[in-house]
Amino acid sequence: MAPAVDPLIDRCRAAGQPALADALAALQGDPRERLAAQVAEIDLELVAELCERFVGSEESHQLGAVEPADAIALPETEVDRQRDEIARERGEQHLGEGKVALVLLAGGQGSRLGFEGPKGNFPFAPITGRTLFDFFAARIDALRMRYDTALPWFIMTSPVNDAITRETFATADYFGLDPDSVHFMVQGTMPAVDATAGQILLEAPDRVSVSPDGHGGLLGTLRRSGALDLMADSGIETLFTFQVDNPLVRIARPQFLGHHLFAGAEMSSIAVRKTVPEENVGVIAKIDGRAGVIEYSDLPAALANQREADGRLSYWAGSIAIHCIERGFVERLTDGRLGLPFHRALKKVPHVDASGQLVDPVEPNGIKFETFLFDALPLAHASVTLEAAREEEFSPIKNAEGVDSPQTARVHMNRLYARWFEAAGVPIPVGADGEPVDLEIDPRVALNADELRDALPDDFEVTGPTALGLSTMVEG
Ligand code: UTP
Repeated sequence: MAPAVDPLIDRCRAAGQPALADALAALQGDPRERLAAQVAEIDLELVAELCERFVGSEESHQLGAVEPADAIALPETEVDRQRDEIARERGEQHLGEGKVALVLLAGGQGSRLGFEGPKGNFPFAPITGRTLFDFFAARIDALRMRYDTALPWFIMTSPVNDAITRETFATADYFGLDPDSVHFMVQGTMPAVDATAGQILLEAPDRVSVSPDGHGGLLGTLRRSGALDLMADSGIETLFTFQVDNPLVRIARPQFLGHHLFAGAEMSSIAVRKTVPEENVGVIAKIDGRAGVIEYSDLPAALANQREADGRLSYWAGSIAIHCIERGFVERLTDGRLGLPFHRALKKVPHVDASGQLVDPVEPNGIKFETFLFDALPLAHASVTLEAAREEEFSPIKNAEGVDSPQTARVHMNRLYARWFEAAGVPIPVGADGEPVDLEIDPRVALNADELRDALPDDFEVTGPTALGLSTMVEG
């Protein structure tokens, strides 16, 4: 039933949104109903609270008492390696028992990459042009075969990219996965407000400008969509969460699962060493005695530059947004109003002005509100931070060019696969730039160096760009 518009107009005025009230009052017929339906879904009181905090002021953070993260470092000794081995076995057991679900965060807008459509459709692979979704699906298929387990895959989309993401999977026959094993869930949105007066912006006279409410929206989405219930019914205990733009992610890495389980952790994270103090990654640290992530813009320079006696950065633990999260933890956090704090992002937000003219700003003019998944970390009773080697696990595709771009991801993947080949005794030619030639390995052929060694015939050679696939073994 259409919401009654007059009370809604009053609510807008009461919540400090006179511009929206006027916009509603100015419309008639269908456009009025369309806008009213959208406004009725907005938590106007929450928006008022956020505007009070964020509009016209810099976001200020009280950091609390900060110490470097307690982390499980990369193995150096035989004892460390044995510890990792035991963790791996524990993780594999958990996988084999069907207690793990995979959760992909794919609701972002990917504006920095500037690619049309969901980022998962980005054809990152240098030879086959396979997309991120396709590649993740192949890894998941390989893991399911390896551990003979269901390993359901939950994908969080946003209202902006949900339909096209589903269509992508349907058209591609779910990239060979059983359609019943892939579950889509749509995250929520928040309206954008103008940065000076906190008025909700309209992208058309009858439409509010909304954007996804951040990856922290995952927690509420898991509950609202019924995914948590589905997981409970199928015996899932642990969620492995990862982002859509990191092709190097080692999905459901058993060691990580094992360490998380041994510690009785509710939420755990993977960290890589920061390259330089000013690198733009959030840092995992201990804040008031609990694990948490400090955004790079909030880490005071003195801490960012602080070093240990051995010269290494004290705040080294760059978060790469890979987590193990217990289902019970998500249930606890979402059993009532979710407490994740909102952050503000200053962005260029095209909108219509009071006279109905479209404004395409050249400077950031609007504020978007987002929550971050890592803000759940301090709420966990126990948490593990596991160090990983960056070159093995992390090369995100964020920007169209330069750092963290398709180009850097391609180089890092080539280097990774070159190391695998070389460990199997197969030399890899380098190109004029001194980098290995383009290499691809279908995850169904091998998920790591050991598996590649076992899969390769004795006389295998690489003489140029090579894509190792299941059926062809060598293409390219
Ligand atoms: P980013 O922080 O890189 O944001 O997301 P983004 O929207 O994808 O990209 P930009 O900033 O516009 O260039 C990190 C991960 O979190 C997911 C993204 O899909 C990506 O996997 N994400 C982000 C969501 O699922 N929902 C959101 O609201 C935001």
